[in-house]
Amino acid sequence: MDQSRTPYFDVLRDYVEAGVVPFHTPGHKQGIGCDPVFREFVGERVLGIDLTQIRGLDDLLQPSEAIVEAQNLAAEAYGADQSFFLINGSTSGNQIMMMTAVNPGQSIAIPRNAHKSALGGLIMSGAYPVYMAPEVDETLHMDLTVTPETVAATIAAHPEVRAIYVVSPTYYGVCADLPAIAEIAHAHGLPLLVDEAWGPHFKFHPKLPPSAIEAGADLCINSTHKMLSSLSQTALLHRRGDRIPLDRLSAVHKLFLSTSPNLILVASLDVARRQMATEGERLLGETIAIADSVRQRLNAIPGLSCFGEESCGRPGFAAFDPTRITLTVKALGYTGYEAEEILRRRYNVQVELADLFNCVALITIGTTPAAADVLVEAAAELAREDRPLDIFAPSGILERRLMSGTYTLPKIPPVRMLPRDAFLASTESVPFKSSAGRICAEVITPYPPGIPVLAPGEEITPEVVAYLDLELRAGGRMQGPYDSSLRTIRVVRE
Ligand SMILES: Cc1ncc(COP(=O)(O)O)c(C=O)c1O
Repeated sequence: MDQSRTPYFDVLRDYVEAGVVPFHTPGHKQGIGCDPVFREFVGERVLGIDLTQIRGLDDLLQPSEAIVEAQNLAAEAYGADQSFFLINGSTSGNQIMMMTAVNPGQSIAIPRNAHKSALGGLIMSGAYPVYMAPEVDETLHMDLTVTPETVAATIAAHPEVRAIYVVSPTYYGVCADLPAIAEIAHAHGLPLLVDEAWGPHFKFHPKLPPSAIEAGADLCINSTHKMLSSLSQTALLHRRGDRIPLDRLSAVHKLFLSTSPNLILVASLDVARRQMATEGERLLGETIAIADSVRQRLNAIPGLSCFGEESCGRPGFAAFDPTRITLTVKALGYTGYEAEEILRRRYNVQVELADLFNCVALITIGTTPAAADVLVEAAAELAREDRPLDIFAPSGILERRLMSGTYTLPKIPPVRMLPRDAFLASTESVPFKSSAGRICAEVITPYPPGIPVLAPGEEITPEVVAYLDLELRAGGRMQGPYDSSLRTIRVVRE
């Protein structure tokens, strides 16, 4: 196929150039009806291609023209048999993968540190989770990936699982041994689903880890908006082989689409694919060089460290995405949150993510050498600063958490109900401290480390209550519960 083509972007441009008089949605009619301040700020051209699926612009729900060609080009570029455009992120990709691969009541093996959208997928699919523990880096208190051994042991202990789901890479660019995991899954006749939201660039440079599809995944998702140049909310879902029925996948994909998709997003996927297919190796080569130089310079600053390729080979750390910069500030005595705030307030630098000990910076094809220098200079200043007690009063979280040892996650509680049944059940709020023994109806994820401690359908154990209580007293924040102070918790009504 001709990867220099952008069939979908072209039909939008053609429509604008033809000067069609629009009596269709959207109501702003190519910007004319927009608030003028907004129109001027975003630009008429953007609004001009904010069109709907009328004649000639194909239909994402039932593609037959330009979208077919655009999706086929994406499949070819990624080495997949089929690719589907997603316009609700990898979030919808996770939900689609789960709803396609498992039926209500069937079991799926899933790492405990899966993104919350995977838990949403469990709720929607009605599947039963068999959780796998990821490896953990005790020094950085950072979760890694699940090992092939863990996958094999899970299948041996739970022969009822119908699919294997893994996350690779993690937020920190740490990759699983996907070829080995695929071999194990396939030897048992199971499909492998990979949340590769953070790895849409892997296919396009030999220095990057093997992509999930190359490694043998049957389905995988890529958040092209995260690491490539397509617009926010866009992502790709790829299928390879025939372990996952295409008709089912395609039907489920449609369930997750609006009948009025944003066509600018669709066109941005088309163009981002062309960019990678035709120029990816060069662009990513430059990106990797920038990231390597940033890592090297950060590692030379006393008090800062930034892991890289040398960490590969440990269990759960099979490969590494060199474009990811995890800046460890532990030795400076800052939490990652404090460092994030200082970098932003004092140096106008915003990182992607902070956790207890680290800040994560993304180097992508949009990062210029000058921007990279700003990051390094700001980090050097940060390392030189006296700890600014006046502005950033020490939270004490770090010390207290380390003293209380709250980083040891409690055992995964017994699953008493399907996540879907618990989530949709009649529920009630009870005082959290006396909730042991009840069945949780919500997801409770302390930040950090961001791994759910309770999911819908799980029994609240005394150990979990004690752990979450310590987290709260140490200043931890809870994501997920209706009552974020966790004074109360929603449980299934008895
Ligand atoms: C591992 C992982 N999977 C899925 C998602 C959801 O992706 P999106 O934001 O594209 O919906 C995220 C988002 O951060 C993620 O980190």
